[in-house]
Amino acid sequence: MNSSEQSKERSNLSVSHRFGVDRTPLYKPGLPIELVAREKGMDPSKIIKLASNENPLGPSPKAVEAVKVALNDLHRYPDGGAWELTHKLAEQSGLSANQFIIGNGSNEILELVAQVFLEPGTNAVMGEYPFVVYPIVTQHFGAEIRKAPMPDLRHDLDEILKLVDEKTRVVFIASPNNPTPHDIPRDEMEVFVQKLPEHVLLCFDGAYQEYLDDPFDPIPSIQNGKSILAVRTFSKIYGLAGNRIGYAYGSEELVALLMRARQPFSVNSLALAGALAALEDVEFVAKCKVLNQQGIAQLKEGFEKLNLEYEAGCANFVLVRVDDTRECCEFLVEKGVIVRSMSPFSLDGWIRVSVGLPAENERLLDSLAEYFQQS
Ligand SMILES: Cc1ncc(COP(=O)(O)O)c(C=O)c1O
Repeated sequence: MNSSEQSKERSNLSVSHRFGVDRTPLYKPGLPIELVAREKGMDPSKIIKLASNENPLGPSPKAVEAVKVALNDLHRYPDGGAWELTHKLAEQSGLSANQFIIGNGSNEILELVAQVFLEPGTNAVMGEYPFVVYPIVTQHFGAEIRKAPMPDLRHDLDEILKLVDEKTRVVFIASPNNPTPHDIPRDEMEVFVQKLPEHVLLCFDGAYQEYLDDPFDPIPSIQNGKSILAVRTFSKIYGLAGNRIGYAYGSEELVALLMRARQPFSVNSLALAGALAALEDVEFVAKCKVLNQQGIAQLKEGFEKLNLEYEAGCANFVLVRVDDTRECCEFLVEKGVIVRSMSPFSLDGWIRVSVGLPAENERLLDSLAEYFQQS
């Protein structure tokens, strides 16, 4: 049986689809506030969402102003090459503008990596608890998913190297990781980059990098010819998750290849305007980082009082062990607090909580206290 016959066999569609697409896991996002409000008959303003690692301070105010101005030009196509944004990023980094690609969220760039580099017969290596999009896009393009053990829920770079072979095209690493919140020390990453074979692309995801004090900087290695694509987002510390914009940088050759697979107008003009202004909103970013550090301290103290096991790093979320995740998440939703069960991510017994405003963190801790009192 060939692959299109196999795909037909498993589907009621009369049209064949690419083999394996129907097996690609479906991405399930955190519950939206409106959905919970509708289903539970609650007032949406009374619900707090701590489920998708969003910015509790909202979007960068400078970005909001820029988006308002950009509304007047909605009849025009966006600048497909993102001239202004790539030049601003180049100016800030010392790289050239041709070394940047802008995406519809960093998710689009992760998908482009898979589209360009992965195919049946190849594999992608990642940690045991990877950002969910890595296995999705790997599977989607027919490559093998190889997961390296993460002892103590941390990346073990030697374990990753053990899984790399001549068929490996991409290694996906996020630091800090998600769903586990830990980052990889800068010196460990520097050694790893030297050891990684030349035929492998390192897709280094820095979605939460701005929350770190001393992150690994991929730029010197890129300048020394290493095959690295550093992926970043405006969804987290810049507060632009709804605008859907991220970016990546690497060698000009690598970026040129990815650009061939990208839709010319995948990033809209409001997103471009917002991101450009957000990059300059240094004050806002600094404020968000401090608020996040305070929030993590508040949550840790609260979990300790409740005698709960937790995992926290510098990123804007923490993991906390509650054992019966389904029961606990349902209880919290009834209290108007949306968090994320980690059971679908092979972390049974844990929930992931995004750091909120102080009053939101307090409400989560009070609701958890109530949950453990009654259970
Ligand atoms: C590690 C990591 N990478 C990438 C993303 C995707 O971000 P976006 O597509 O919003 O830029 C996320 C989102 O949660 C993430 O946690």
